[in-house]
Amino acid sequence: MPDLPRLLITAGPTREYLDDVRYLSNASSGKMGYAIAEAAAKAGYAVTLVSGPVDLTCPTGVDRVDVETTAEMRKACMGALTSCEGVIAAAAVCDYRPATRIIGKLAKTGGPMTVEMIETDDVLAEIGRCKEARWVVGFALEAENARERALQKLRAKNCDWIVVNDPTAIGSDSNSVELMDPAGAIAAEWTGPKSAIAASLIDWLHSRYD
Ligand code: CTP
Ligand code: CA
Repeated sequence: MPDLPRLLITAGPTREYLDDVRYLSNASSGKMGYAIAEAAAKAGYAVTLVSGPVDLTCPTGVDRVDVETTAEMRKACMGALTSCEGVIAAAAVCDYRPATRIIGKLAKTGGPMTVEMIETDDVLAEIGRCKEARWVVGFALEAENARERALQKLRAKNCDWIVVNDPTAIGSDSNSVELMDPAGAIAAEWTGPKSAIAASLIDWLHSRYD
């Protein structure tokens, strides 16, 4: 039985449907989020894992909630938040969605097509607004000016920490990350297999909060 509080962890991509059979998504494997969920459960936390579609098995002892769209991820996270004391948002959430989802299957018209896209809900920003006493860790995937952009995201989304993530790690089993605080200081850095980074992150949070 877990003897530590419950954590909310998001993982994997979301999908945004254009019609009933076509969607936009991204190449996130979900491996980092799943590794964190597994490390948290092994450390004794109860874990709610809100997961987009991935080809991964749910780690032992983790309560997984499957979602597809960003709106579904938002709903699942807001529903789970009250029972959780900490949040780690590792999901690669789609930033835009088609303005309308067409019922059925869109037929081709023989020429170019334009799709109007609108912004999705920002799940982490909403968690940040309602977090109260909870601690919140965001992820930032940055191709350039990584630290500066990550710090802007940490502050905009009211996070306590942000993991600055290497974009070349997408789909890989290893990663190289920095953990940044709201002053922009690097509190820790870890390189290696995602499982080891996940264990270090959980260990670090455990010693900080429990
Ligand atoms: N995130 C979220 N909901 C969104 C977009 C992002 O919850 N609609 C979360 C991610 O799970 C991650 C953090 O916000 O923890 C930062 O995601 P990232 O894609 O790096 O930043 P964005 O704010 O989406 O900005 P951009 O993609 O333009 O860099
Ligand atoms: Ca984004």
